[in-house]
This record gives sequence, C-alpha cells and structure tokens, in this order.
Amino acid sequence: MNEWKNIVKELTLDEKIGMIHGDGLFRTKGVERLSIPPLIMSDGPMGVRNDFKNDEWKAVGQNDDYVTYLPSISALASTWNRELAYTSGEVLGEEARGRGKDVILGPGVNIKRTPLCGRNFEYFSEDPYLTIEMAVPFIKGVQKHDVAACLKHFALNNQETNRMNLNVVVDEKTLHSIYLRVFQEIIEQAKPYSVMGSYSKLYDEFCCESDYLTNQLLRSKWQYDGVLITDWGAVHNTKEAAEAGVDIEMSVTSNFDDYCMANPLKKAIQSGEIEEVEIDKKVERILLLMKRIKVGDPTRKPGAYNTPAHREKVLEVARESIILLKNEEKILPLSKNIKSILVIGENAVRQHANGGGSAEINALYEITPLMGIKMLLGGNVKVDYIPGYESKGQIDDSNSHPDASDLNWQADSLNNKRETNNNAMTESDRERAKELREEALAKAKNYDTIIYIGGLNHDFDVENQDRGSMKLPYEQEELIGALLRVKPETVVVLCGGSPVELEAIGENAKALLFMYYAGMEGGRALAEILFGEVNPSGHIAETFPMKYTDTPIAEFGEFPGGESVSYQEGPFVGYRYYDTFQQTVAFPFGHGLSYTEFEYTDFELDRENLVLSGSVTNSGDREGKALLQVYCGPTQYGNMVERIPKKELIQFEKITLLPKETKAVSIQLEPRLIHASKELQLYVGTSVNDIIFSQNMIPGSKDHAFHACMKKHEFGTRKT
Ligand code: BGC
Repeated sequence: MNEWKNIVKELTLDEKIGMIHGDGLFRTKGVERLSIPPLIMSDGPMGVRNDFKNDEWKAVGQNDDYVTYLPSISALASTWNRELAYTSGEVLGEEARGRGKDVILGPGVNIKRTPLCGRNFEYFSEDPYLTIEMAVPFIKGVQKHDVAACLKHFALNNQETNRMNLNVVVDEKTLHSIYLRVFQEIIEQAKPYSVMGSYSKLYDEFCCESDYLTNQLLRSKWQYDGVLITDWGAVHNTKEAAEAGVDIEMSVTSNFDDYCMANPLKKAIQSGEIEEVEIDKKVERILLLMKRIKVGDPTRKPGAYNTPAHREKVLEVARESIILLKNEEKILPLSKNIKSILVIGENAVRQHANGGGSAEINALYEITPLMGIKMLLGGNVKVDYIPGYESKGQIDDSNSHPDASDLNWQADSLNNKRETNNNAMTESDRERAKELREEALAKAKNYDTIIYIGGLNHDFDVENQDRGSMKLPYEQEELIGALLRVKPETVVVLCGGSPVELEAIGENAKALLFMYYAGMEGGRALAEILFGEVNPSGHIAETFPMKYTDTPIAEFGEFPGGESVSYQEGPFVGYRYYDTFQQTVAFPFGHGLSYTEFEYTDFELDRENLVLSGSVTNSGDREGKALLQVYCGPTQYGNMVERIPKKELIQFEKITLLPKETKAVSIQLEPRLIHASKELQLYVGTSVNDIIFSQNMIPGSKDHAFHACMKKHEFGTRKT
C-alpha cells in the first residue's frame, strides 16, 4: 500500500477530486502529469454495453461496439453450474478488456424478493446460497482478465418502483441472513475489485451515505479494501458521502463539476469541514484497484471481443439454462422427421439484446428461436410462423433501442418516476388481439406440430419499472388456452426474465419449457433442446408460484410500498415461504426435468464428518445431467414469531451421466452453513419439494437406521 501513499502525496487537491467523481458518463478524470489514466467503466453483464458520448446519453453510433451477447444472469443461475458461471465471467471479462474497459458494472446479486421486480432478469435467485455460489466464480472469471467486476447493488435494491428514494424497513436478522449475506460472502470469497452502492435507503439513510453499511460493515467488519462506486445519481449529500466509504461518485447528468464529490467537496475541504485525509483514502483505493487490474503494466491482458470461442461458450451456457418444466407423455423431444411445423408467438422472432435498461447491449447477432429451428431442421421441413399476438402499439420503448439520434432513457432517469407496468390494453388492442388469435387458431388446424413461443420481453423485464401483475401480457393466456384445446400436443415455450402466472397453462400444457434471456445463441440452444440434440438440464433458481396472491409478499409483505417498503415477510422469501407454509406452487424452486431418468440409491450421511454419499444412476438411454440439491433446517420451524424456514439450500452438485451409468457421489457439507439448532433435518432433493432422502442430523447419534425416505424419482410429473 505504501507506494500508493507516496503517489497520493504528490497529487494536488484538484487532481484527487478529479479521480473520485465522474468526469464523463462512464469515466473519471486521470492525472496526465503522473501518467494516471482515467478509469473507464461500462455496463454488463449480458455483454459490454455500447459506447455513449462522454457527456450525453447518445450512442456514439459506431458499429465497432457490437459484442458477444451472453445469457442473462437469471439464465446463468438456472444452469446451477459453477464452471459455466466461471466461463461466463471469463467471456465478459475478456470482452470488456478487449473493448478497453477497466470496470464492468456487474454482476447484480440482489435477492429476488418479488417476482414483479423489473430487474429480476439481471439477478441470480431468490436464494442467497445459490446466488453466492454462482456469483463467486463469475467474478473470478471476469477479474482473471485484468478487469474489475463491480458487485451491485449494495444493498436492498429489490424493486424498481420509487428506487431513487425508497426506504427499506427490514428486521435485522433478515437483513443479514438474506440480503447482506450475499454481499458479505461474495466479497470474502471472490474479492471483487469494486462494489456499487445502491439508490435505496436503509433505515432512512441512503445506502451510499450510510455509515452503518459502508463504514461499519463494508470497511470495518468485512475489511473491504476495494472501490465503492455509487449507482448513477445515488449520492445526495457531500459530507455524508465523503465520510462514508464511497470512493467514486457517478451520475447521469453532465454537470460533472457540480457532483457532490466534485466542487462542493473541494470547498468543504478548503473550509475545513471535511478532512483531506478522507479523500486520500479514496484515492489510495482507486490506485490499488488500478494496480490490481494492471493499469500501465505491459503484462496486462489485452482482452478480445467477438471471438468464435466466446460464441461457443455462450451457446454452452444457453443450452444448460433452458428449463423443461413439464413433459407429459414424453411429447418432447420432437422428431426431426416431420413435414411441417407452425411456430406461433412473437418471441419466436423478437430480439431482446437491446432492451432492459442499463443491461442493454448491441449484440453482434441474436439467433431467434424461429431462426434456430429453421437452422436445425434445414430445407426438408416446412417451418411456418404466425405471430398470434403482437406487442406493437403497446410497447413503451423508452427503455430500449437507443440509436445515434435518440437520447437514451437514462438521461432522464433521476426524475423519471415510473409506475408499475399494468399491461393495460385498449379496446382496439383487444380487437386486434382477437383477430391475431383467430388467425393463428385457424392456421394451426392444418399442422401436426405446433410450437408456441411467447412470454415476456424487455417492456416488462426492465430497469426503473416493476411489473404490475404476474399475468402473461397481450392476452396470451387466452391464446395458449385456445390453442391447447385445438391442439393439445402444442409445445409451449415461455421466454422472459421472471415467472408468470401458470395456473391454467401449467395445468393444461403437456410440454412446457421456460427460457430466460439466453444470449445470442439462445434460439439455437432452444431448437437443439426441442429436437433432442441436447438434453435439458436447467433448473429454476426461483419458485414459480401459481398466482401472485400466493406469494409471501402478497400474503405478509408489502410491495411496492410508498416512500417506505416494509419486508414484513422476514426471511420467508421465495421457497422459504412456500415450503414452510405448504403453499401450493406451479413449479418449486430447483425444479427442472430431463429427457432421461435418474435413480438415487444408498444415500447416507456421515454425521461426524458431514459427508453425504450415495449413488446416482442414469436409467434412461440418453446422456443427461442430474442436479442434487441439499437442504437443511430445524425440525421445529415456521410461525411468524420465530420466523424459521423449514429448509435452506446448503449445497448442490450437477452430475453428468452416460446412458445406464452409475456414479458414486460424495458431498462435503460445510459446517458453517448448518443452522445452529440441536434438532436438524437434512434433505436431498431434485427440487425443494421433491425430496429423495431425508435424515435427522444430530451429530454423534448412534442411530444408524436413518429416517431415510428413498424413492425412485419420477420425471415428467409436475410437483405441486
Ligand atoms: C443502474 C446501474 C447501472 C448504472 C450505469 C443505473 O441506472 O442502476 O445498474 O450500472 O445505471 O448505467
């Protein structure tokens, strides 16, 4: 650290001030005299965002900033594959470096508290452990390429409504065990070089100015020595921000010298109100980050973008991210020996890369599902398409499609308070929907094979706005319902960034797939799964409730709140609620089917050493990947006073098995993740509801007749 202290001593106050606030929309000021370059940032993590002018939210408009489009973080989480998380991070880091960036603003690790949060597609899971396990390798992959990851949004940015001012009220135990735990453990394990403070308030203090969050926790308790960057426009008071651990203030306006940590801070230092040593600490941390990413060092990795290898890797991730929710009568995979197929639904042809808010990117290309299907089947199969519904006219595209002439939505994002998207349809929208539905239904009669590809899009999964309901938009429920009546074998594929109500569709569709925004190769991956070239192995990283009113937030909590929002559901977020209170769900956390079948035998727990062992056999005739999930919880649980969830995820392992192959598994459990209760139960499942083995865990007990419930796992059935 000493060398940084020496450099800091050489800097003038103006030079230091230049380094700790935005001097462009995505960069700070360097110190040319001492060869200190500006710090260059860019949004991620679905790819490196296109370049904007330095002081205006206008795309530069060049065509050399088109990049590899990676599966969204929600898609990545559905792979439950730590290696793929590392691979994704590597692709992003190498692309960011290839585009000359120093800091990539991701990943987002906020917990999915409500399925209605507009940014859920950018987040991993409703579960802290899964989030941590996937974010850690992702960040390591990014930083391997001499680029800083930026862990965001610290903290409590669990909704978009009123995000600039929202005061979060949450009990201390929940705050730590669910919401802050992810930041603490990721920081400890992955050592991200930077963290982004969020817009929200905790206990009435803005997170970026909170002494508790930034000084007491981040710096003192967690010993974080990386750079704390504010979200764009998240600082409100000079003194508070300067004295909090914040190192760089960024914002969306171009009056850079007026930022709190620019001239106002300089004046406060000159008047003696704030001590200069506060600024020195920030500059030291920025210089340390520069050292970590090897700024100015000839051995710094050069990076590369749009490489064929990156495209291969994002395809691999996309393949494992798609989730087979239901497959009655083994309708899937479809045969390639068919004459004609009708594909219905706008998401078959819609591209998603350039939407969603700051996660938008210019993709080098994006293979849509329709293109993927046509590419796979070739010329001998007639593949026709009809929209069935349209989003046109109802798209509020202020969040998407920036081009050189248009100002990006972000220019006005500090003032732009958006209500939740209620998907309101006018009378004429309804007439149009009916017309399109009837056209599709009439056409469907002439085809044997129908694939429906609908769901959400970035008009719903979007920054700065939450969804007003979990219903499928554009009258898709009516359309799918009618289709299933005419063609009960219709394969239903839903794309999107968050769950939709599936009460009727989930019940009636025989084959149902869910696909998060899966990157530039997503359409190809989907086609490979539909036609059996790839065996699905994605599992949902969040619960799909039957309907919104079943969610813990609707039941106990508050959303979207007003000036404040109270997390009254406490730790009962996602499956911690559904499972504990036996609430029926459409698809439970961790659920995902395969085209093959697995058998689980001989499971036992070595209670002294906390090693779980057993065997998994692929009893089918295709290679496949089984996902073992390990949960643990006290035998006494529930009630809203003590607030103890029944199960919490503590381990998982994905195992690849050839046809008829058996593999022994041995899983070491981490003692620190095991609840401090005397009466504990361990569960091994293929989802939180689908438990294949369960055992009491009292260490040292001589009882070897385990309370095990072993059964053959049945695939193709929907667990409720
Ligand atoms: C978002 C951040 C993003 C930043 C810069 C903000 O609106 O909340 O996630 O990194 O803008 O674009």
